[in-house]
Amino acid sequence: MSEAIETIKIKVQRFDPAVDKEPNYQEYTVPYAKGTTVMSALRYIYENLDHSLAYYASCRIGKCAGCHVRVNGNTKLACTTIIEGNVTIEPKKGKVIRDLVVETPPRGEKEGHEEVVPEV
Ligand code: FES
Repeated sequence: MSEAIETIKIKVQRFDPAVDKEPNYQEYTVPYAKGTTVMSALRYIYENLDHSLAYYASCRIGKCAGCHVRVNGNTKLACTTIIEGNVTIEPKKGKVIRDLVVETPPRGEKEGHEEVVPEV
């Protein structure tokens, strides 16, 4: 008998300004284990379910602050935010380049999203 794998639903806002008039949402079912981060779920989707998903990943340790997304409406770092159930992931506020990738203003200009308070 095979062991059941727990899964969660990840709803992701998709938008490609080259072809879409409005953003839409796509839902994915991904395996879940305690400690799963938003970024690891996005990586699973990209590598196994939908290679067209665009998201930002760089340091993956919470240092570069480049991976901000909105998780259930709250701006969080994708690489350090632990998922605890089904979630909706949207881009942070700003001009969307594609899906979860948002144009970053030049250095010195205020970014178009609310301040993120690091979780301890
Ligand atoms: S990838 Fe650098 S803070 Fe998340």
